Amino acid sequence: MLLGVPKETKYKEARVALTPDVIKELIKKGYKVVVEKDAGVNSYIKDEDFINAGVQIADKQTVYKADVVLKVNPPLPDEVAMMKKNAVLISFMWALTNPALVEACVKAEISAFSMDAIPRISRAQKMDALSSQANLAGYKAVILAADHLGKILPMMTTAAGTIKPAKVVIFGAGVAGLQAIATAKRLGAVVEVSDIRPETKEQVESLGGKFIEVKGDESIKVEGGYVKNVSEEFLKKQQELVAKHVQEADIVITTALIPGKKAPLLVTEQMVKSMRNGSVIVDMAVEQGGNVAGSKLNETIKTENGVTIIGESNLPSLLPMNASQLYAKNIQAFLLHLSDSNGFKWEMEEEITRGSLIVHQGKIVHPALLNKN
Ligand code: NAI
Repeated sequence: MLLGVPKETKYKEARVALTPDVIKELIKKGYKVVVEKDAGVNSYIKDEDFINAGVQIADKQTVYKADVVLKVNPPLPDEVAMMKKNAVLISFMWALTNPALVEACVKAEISAFSMDAIPRISRAQKMDALSSQANLAGYKAVILAADHLGKILPMMTTAAGTIKPAKVVIFGAGVAGLQAIATAKRLGAVVEVSDIRPETKEQVESLGGKFIEVKGDESIKVEGGYVKNVSEEFLKKQQELVAKHVQEADIVITTALIPGKKAPLLVTEQMVKSMRNGSVIVDMAVEQGGNVAGSKLNETIKTENGVTIIGESNLPSLLPMNASQLYAKNIQAFLLHLSDSNGFKWEMEEEITRGSLIVHQGKIVHPALLNKN
């Protein structure tokens, strides 16, 4: 099978779906690979590095004519239209909120697997790109915030006096949040954390964070580790309790998401106004509507009271060397699970296939999309 890797075209995207190391292993297994010219430059991978790994460099049209197209971001409908009938796409798709892409896959009569729909089961951990990328994003959020803060994070005792450690408040202790806690702790900050899944308390404390306990109520619905629903009343109660912590924070990082829904508003306008001049917020949920009042997609703004709000939506892309390396590993594991060099196995009842296959040979097959229509 010929694998095609296009250059990513999304604004400010620096990642690439396969790296030379992974390509070498796939070639050993019998796959062939074609990569678009300059696809790796923003991840510091030259065409020459790809060629040395055994790849053919080609133009966009040729790459999209491969048997399998491997991408990070969803391709545009026009790009899908360039694919061969019965070819396979593997990419982040966000299919539930991207009907134009699903429609394009149906029209082109291809099959499409979505990286964001791979089930979060232990067997699939090595294919889990949501986790590999969120983990890096959590790290980068702390580094960005620290860079915008006019202070150091650790306590420092000097001849000129003692500097108190900075205080970091983190909302959401999922994959990104847990890495943010670990990173802020390593830099010496005092870290406080709020999450509504009770099991996160122990995880937060094992990383040295302090858990801000908000008593849950029956409106909180958790399914498969994800928060499915939470009431306005609960959010209000949570806001009242965390307000004091936010007011005293030097850095606030928010990561709270509810899959398929708008992100919950956790830091209100009033809370932002209560924060000290010079404090910094990173809203990691900005693309899903934001956890912070006033955050702007892909912008860094300063409020009237001197609070910097960072709304960077693609944090993994700011660490393209690691992000591409881990994403490529996820793709490799997924591809080897689904296929061998002669073709796909199409085990339609197998859990990972069933969870991630959105369109099969031009027909929508994913239960969540079938139930939606
Ligand atoms: P996510 O990105 O959907 O959400 C981030 C965090 O925000 C979650 O911890 C969630 O509880 C929290 N949150 C939602 N509403 C909130 C609110 N009002 N206030 C404070 N926090 C709020 O989560 P992510 O990081 O994608 O992980 C989701 C789940 O999947 C977790 O249970 C995780 O342990 C599990 N998981 C399992 C894996 C596996 O077994 N293979 C791999 C990765 C994650």
